[in-house]
Amino acid sequence: MTEDTQRVDPLRDHPPVSQNLIRNPISLIGLALAGVAVANIVLLVLIDVLASRSSPYIGVLAYMVAPGFLVLGLILVPIGLVIERRRRLRAVGVPPHFPRFDLNNPAQRSTFAFLLSFVVIFALVSSVGSYKAYEFTDSVDFCGQLCHTVMHPEFTAYEASPHARVACVECHVGSGASWYVKSKLSGMRQVYYTALGTYPRPIPTPVHNLRPAQQTCEQCHWPRKFWGAQLKTFTHYGDDEQNTPRVLRMLMKVGGGDPRLGQAGEGIHWHMNIANKVTYIASDEQRQVIPWVRIEDKNGRVAEYLAKDASLTQAQIDKADKRRMDCIDCHNRPSHIYVPPDASVDQAITGRAIDATLPFIKQQGVAVLTADYKTSDEAQNAIATTITKFYQDKYPQIASAKADSVKGAVVELQRIYSTTFFPYMKVNWKTHPNNIGHMYYQGCFRCHDGNHVSKDGKVISKDCNSCHTVMDQQESGTQIAAVPAQTFKHPVDIGDLTGVNCSDCHSGGVGP
Ligand code: HEC
Ligand code: HEC
Ligand code: HEC
Ligand code: HEC
Ligand code: HEC
Ligand code: HEC
Repeated sequence: MTEDTQRVDPLRDHPPVSQNLIRNPISLIGLALAGVAVANIVLLVLIDVLASRSSPYIGVLAYMVAPGFLVLGLILVPIGLVIERRRRLRAVGVPPHFPRFDLNNPAQRSTFAFLLSFVVIFALVSSVGSYKAYEFTDSVDFCGQLCHTVMHPEFTAYEASPHARVACVECHVGSGASWYVKSKLSGMRQVYYTALGTYPRPIPTPVHNLRPAQQTCEQCHWPRKFWGAQLKTFTHYGDDEQNTPRVLRMLMKVGGGDPRLGQAGEGIHWHMNIANKVTYIASDEQRQVIPWVRIEDKNGRVAEYLAKDASLTQAQIDKADKRRMDCIDCHNRPSHIYVPPDASVDQAITGRAIDATLPFIKQQGVAVLTADYKTSDEAQNAIATTITKFYQDKYPQIASAKADSVKGAVVELQRIYSTTFFPYMKVNWKTHPNNIGHMYYQGCFRCHDGNHVSKDGKVISKDCNSCHTVMDQQESGTQIAAVPAQTFKHPVDIGDLTGVNCSDCHSGGVGP
């Protein structure tokens, strides 16, 4: 080194400064942290891969918590190095400055090569890791099970629905980065509410940030494929001693999706006919009361219908929020179906999970399910004691001769309760109306009630044959209508069917 050299080379002048820099507490803690994190990731990923049904908590630890600690550890290492180097330079009286690299120096060259390959490998591994994290936060486990109690009703109903194999995110997020980010931001808010326990019970519906159905449902259900009709069977049991069976078969006119496959204005999916535009105003949060409807069809015909009992002024109509009708306005429960007790007991009897020969079992089953319970445990106990006691008191012979049937009915009713009633989240069939049909809820009759009239006197049809045709109707195995029947014959005479609201009597709970 010559006299005129301006800068000192501390690496050469003070070799101890750069030797074993890593031996400082911060870097060592960082290394230890990273080491433990790597070991945990390896172990957890192994468990996640090998377990037949992995727990969502393993996923959170493996793909979110442990990598977080790994990154923290890896950040601490260089911070420790820098602080340690400055400390040593200060100790030998040299002002702090950046180290100089010399790739001609073999030792430094191999350090550099090591660092470079580490960065490349880490980048590769962490991109796989972030993909796994992305996949994981989109999984049904993450959405449905992590928030255990909060999402319990939605998850339970989902598992019993036609969409049990469709991931939550297919309907709630869809594809594309912007909806992903939007949903994760709102998810973070929800995690926060959950942690504080301040989430609303039940979780409110409609979901205002639900993605438009064109971008979710229509990815799998192509609207143009809706045409023709589908046969559907409805089976009920009366609340008399015989549990009188009533079977109804109807052709549901599900067509209308494509004007080329049938007349426009024909069939239920007519609303979805690409060129038809139905918009409406709802006066309640759950969109159950619809005073105003507007239609603009593909020929440019416009009609506005106002409910006869609505008190909306033109100014209020102009100002109100209007919603364009899509799949969700009818199929609002494609996946979270809280079946009314009347229907779930019917299903159980049809499926022979409940013995149809037990007297009054339909009536008693619905009554015991619908009673007011504070907790699920209370309900489960009450179902067992009430049903058993009913047969012991009223039908002692049956109670002993058909003890197994009574026991079976209790088990099935308990199962129905635990999968359709969620007292903790205040969720049951009454809190989440299903808009398909009109038996237990207003559904189609929100508009098709024969009460929505346009200025020129046209009415949104309540004609019993516009949506379905009765093919066959039986009571206790006997035809009660001409075959093929045109319209439904109500089991009890209630006068003109177009003049009533079915859900006024058919509440889904105790009653008809
Ligand atoms: C087939 C589509 C679909 C799937 C799959 C699906 N959902 Fe939904 N979800 C909906 C629709 C539609 C609504 C109601 C939207 C409305 O009325 O605005 C809804 C509503 C909800 C609500 C609001 C409360 C309620 O019951 O209305 C929650 C919470 C929810 N879903 C969670 C989930 C979770 C968790 C999963 C996965 C386990 C899931 N969803 C899977 C379509 C779906
Ligand atoms: C990832 C694909 C996928 C998405 C997204 C999807 N579905 Fe489905 N859906 C299916 C499949 C598959 C079936 C058939 C299930 C079966 O036959 O049991 C089905 C069945 C249905 C049925 C018939 C139900 C029944 O009782 O048989 C309706 C109605 C329906 N879907 C509506 C919707 C609506 C509304 C949405 C949007 C909220 C939606 N689907 C989103 C795949 C999907
Ligand atoms: C006007 C209300 C309404 C709208 C809007 C609507 N549907 Fe339907 N959909 C029905 C009814 C009613 C049925 C008959 C099902 C029944 O009786 O259970 C049905 C049946 C279906 C079925 C099963 C039958 C079949 O032909 O495969 C699917 C799938 C379906 N709808 C999907 C959709 C999708 C996707 C959309 C949005 C593009 C949509 N629906 C819009 C009322 C509607
Ligand atoms: C938001 C209001 C609204 C709801 C809810 C609604 N519809 Fe409609 N629907 C209309 C309007 C408006 C028309 C067209 C009336 C016209 O021709 O001007 C229509 C027409 C129809 C048609 C055409 C055939 C005809 O004869 O009028 C069918 C079928 C139909 N709807 C079935 C259903 C079914 C099934 C449901 C329930 C699942 C339902 N709609 C729910 C507003 C609604
Ligand atoms: C706007 C369309 C529409 C009109 C108008 C209509 N229905 Fe329906 N109805 C439906 C749909 C959709 C279902 C299927 C519900 C389901 O799949 O659960 C249904 C179901 C039914 C059922 C079976 C209910 C059950 O759960 O057993 C009966 C009975 C019935 N309708 C009778 C009538 C009568 C009577 C009228 C005339 C006053 C009428 N409907 C008018 C759409 C309509
Ligand atoms: C004034 C009250 C009332 C109205 C309104 C009413 N129903 Fe009923 N409904 C009854 C009674 C009572 C029974 C017999 C119940 C029994 O035997 O358990 C019944 C039975 C039925 C059944 C047989 C199911 C069963 O539980 O045995 C069907 C299906 C039905 N009604 C459909 C409808 C439809 C569709 C409408 C609307 C068009 C309607 N009802 C309107 C009172 C009513």
